[in-house]
Amino acid sequence: MSISLLFFLIFLSDISLSSSLDCNAADRTVLLNIKSELGNPLELSTWSPATNCCTWSNVYCSDTGRINNIYLFSINVSTTIPPSFGDLPELETIQLQTIPGLYGTIPPSFSKLSKLEILFLTDTSVSGAIPDFLSRTNLSALDLHKNKFSGPIPLSLTKLPRLQFLDLSGNSLSGTIPPCLLHGTDRHYLYLARNKLSGEIPQDYGNGDIDTIDLSHNRLTGDPSFLFGLTKPMTKIDLSWNQLEFDMTRVAFPHHLNYLDLSHNRIKGKVPKSLQDVQLRFLNFSYNELCGELPKGRFMANYKADSYIHNKCLCGTPLPPCMS
Ligand SMILES: *[C@@H]1O[C@H](CO)[C@@H](O)[C@H](O)[C@H]1NC(C)=O
Ligand SMILES: *[C@@H]1O[C@H](CO)[C@@H](O)[C@H](O)[C@H]1NC(C)=O
Ligand SMILES: *[C@@H]1O[C@H](CO)[C@@H](O)[C@H](O)[C@H]1NC(C)=O
Repeated sequence: MSISLLFFLIFLSDISLSSSLDCNAADRTVLLNIKSELGNPLELSTWSPATNCCTWSNVYCSDTGRINNIYLFSINVSTTIPPSFGDLPELETIQLQTIPGLYGTIPPSFSKLSKLEILFLTDTSVSGAIPDFLSRTNLSALDLHKNKFSGPIPLSLTKLPRLQFLDLSGNSLSGTIPPCLLHGTDRHYLYLARNKLSGEIPQDYGNGDIDTIDLSHNRLTGDPSFLFGLTKPMTKIDLSWNQLEFDMTRVAFPHHLNYLDLSHNRIKGKVPKSLQDVQLRFLNFSYNELCGELPKGRFMANYKADSYIHNKCLCGTPLPPCMS
């Protein structure tokens, strides 16, 4: 995902050359505990007691020799998340990605990580509830996509004053979407796709600084047309595969929108004329209840019949001509 990569690159550009520093002795002991809790995987063979831990693989030190970043990708383990992570008080970033052998729940010791700003725990077998104690951290980005989390999205996440990137896609989360999950003055990114979320989308997601909203493949109901509007900053909206219901006739799509998927809902009315002024890279209105003639503007030729199939009575290029 390009946004994850973006955060990662921003982070990397912040790292000062720290390998000449001697690492903090307490942090070295904790890392050795983590290594042992992980079952001493081969990938961590540079983590050896007699050496400077700022030079070890998969970690970075701050300019005071404290461990502030741990990243583990595709390591071969079969264990729970090491509770000792909570004993690294200067940790700002944890990335545990593509580790299918990692299971169990997020350990309560994570509540001690008051400086944690980025938590990427993706594509693992970690399960259970998303814990309330994450609200004691300093998260601006929380990416838990493709795990086995269940239960509701905790209201406590709304207490994270800097959270601007949230990806909980591909879990088994149920219940409704809490309002006000995202904060801060920068653009917001919300990915909750492929869960079992139900109920209506809270109105406040129409007011904020949302760049991207992907709520596809859930069981959402109600009228989400408050999300649209000419001057909204959104670039990507994916609400496909839900049970959303509204009349599209008078909707104005955001100027900067480049991706719009509303397929597989219960959308009625006509395709609005304003669509011809928006240059989309991707459009899908298929499997709805739309009717009437498609607008003919300059960008409309970009979309194939595939974008409109299975509606009530849409007609006009690229579909069959309308009866006059
Ligand atoms: C993973 O580790 C287990 C046990 O240590 C080993 O049997 C297996 O071959 C390893 N798998 C890979 C892909 O390295
Ligand atoms: C939380 O993060 C912000 C920057 O993102 C930083 O200015 C602030 O000092 C952090 N707070 C703690 C407790 O680390
Ligand atoms: C839109 O979605 C439908 C159903 O999922 C699919 O068959 C069609 O190919 C999609 N159209 C485009 C342009 O991707």
